[in-house]
Amino acid sequence: MTSSELAESARKAAERAYAPYSGFRVGAVVVADDGSQYQGSNVENAAYGAAICAEGAAISHAIASGVRKIRIVAVACVDADSVDGAYPCGNCRQLMNEFGAEKIIVTAGFGEVREHTLEELLPYGFKLDTGS
Ligand code: THU
Repeated sequence: MTSSELAESARKAAERAYAPYSGFRVGAVVVADDGSQYQGSNVENAAYGAAICAEGAAISHAIASGVRKIRIVAVACVDADSVDGAYPCGNCRQLMNEFGAEKIIVTAGFGEVREHTLEELLPYGFKLDTGS
């Protein structure tokens, strides 16, 4: 799948977001090392701090399906004004780091699709060797 196709898949996931409090819908798709794909979207809550980010939801979806190594995470913020406002939060960058994501694809609801290495988004990221 191309980066544009993965961005489109993340946009589709964003359309299923539950974001009645922020109105900011985010979708993500994880591509595992075996090529399998897992979508997620943000899930908000009346207790605001209980919100789950789209990337965390997609990573949890992958991990619960047996994945332990992630190749790519594509993120789409369909309510962002531009791609500059669509970058993953710090906590999600750390979640990506745990499972070795190499490429991060970022897009808003339209237009430009950017590609980054996780090293660009999370230099000197914290990681422990679990042997897995
Ligand atoms: N959000 C994500 O889903 N991913 C991020 O990387 C940043 C923020 C969600 C959380 C909340 O539901 C909404 O966007 C506004 O912060």
